[in-house]
Amino acid sequence: MADVAGPASAHPQAKAAVHSCRVAAVRHYGPFACVTVVGPQLAAAAEPGQFVMIQVPDSRFLLRRPLSIFAVRDDEVTFLIEARGAGSARLTGTRAGDILSVQGPLGNGFPLAGVRRALLIGGGIGVAPLQFLADRLAAAGVGVTAAFGFRDARQARLAAAFHIEHLWLATEDGSAGRRGTVIDLVGAIGAAKNTVLFACGPDAMLAAVQRWAAERSLRGHASLEAHMACGTGSCHGCVVPTTSGYQRVCAEGPVLPLQEIVYE
Ligand SMILES: Cc1cc2nc3c(=O)[nH]c(=O)nc-3n(C[C@H](O)[C@H](O)[C@H](O)COP(=O)(O)OP(=O)(O)OC[C@H]3O[C@@H](n4cnc5c(N)ncnc54)[C@H](O)[C@@H]3O)c2cc1C
Ligand code: FES
Repeated sequence: MADVAGPASAHPQAKAAVHSCRVAAVRHYGPFACVTVVGPQLAAAAEPGQFVMIQVPDSRFLLRRPLSIFAVRDDEVTFLIEARGAGSARLTGTRAGDILSVQGPLGNGFPLAGVRRALLIGGGIGVAPLQFLADRLAAAGVGVTAAFGFRDARQARLAAAFHIEHLWLATEDGSAGRRGTVIDLVGAIGAAKNTVLFACGPDAMLAAVQRWAAERSLRGHASLEAHMACGTGSCHGCVVPTTSGYQRVCAEGPVLPLQEIVYE
């Protein structure tokens, strides 16, 4: 079931459909919840790297929360959720049979044309958009390697939610996978010249990936996070500085060319 959100005069993205979705399953991986909803229209329209604005099912929360699309299988769409504040904590308590209001898909998604070899780099909950991306790349015959960095083994349990053949792990305390950061990990894995990088994680990680890519003349794309109010391009609350001026993460992003993001 889909209707249209936002006034007709708002930014075109404000017309993104709002879907009323039944929760089919919830699994927990350490501190994260993996929530699968039934959403045939959302599933059909979604592209890797896009996100949704999800309504926290509690009237105290006025603003929807942005969440990446983790996976799409048939009519089902899955999200990975980390409890950071009150709204995301409430969402991790979702149960099978609950109904969630999901607006989307939103944003631009990862550009995939011409990619022959891909290195997916994720940090913490930043890994969320990378399964859908890996699925789409693998289906197109692209060689995919993934490198994920977590704080510790408890966080790294999230890796069990993924189905990526070549998936490497690092933890800062060495309690799972290689000891060190995800940058140490990609340094050890290396990347052939035609590799395209796809990165998502905290700003400090993305800035380090940007430097690592520049030193090796590799191109790449980063999926960014910003605090969002409308999520549909109207409020300009989510802008980030880039080499071509300020860009709205929800409308021009969330995926931007890695080398164009300006980190101070
Ligand atoms: C494009 C995009 C994709 C994201 N994908 C995921 C995902 O797949 N899984 C996941 O767990 N989290 C994801 N996040 C982060 C998630 O939206 C925030 O953790 C969540 O909104 C925090 O809400 P809260 O009520 O728990 O926190 P509070 O701090 O109480 O939230 C207060 C307000 O600030 C906003 N806010 C707070 N932190 C963030 C943040 N980091 N990013 C954006 N808005 C924030 C909230 O939406 C809310 O409007 C994504 C963010 C963006 C922008
Ligand atoms: S959140 Fe309103 S313009 Fe991006």
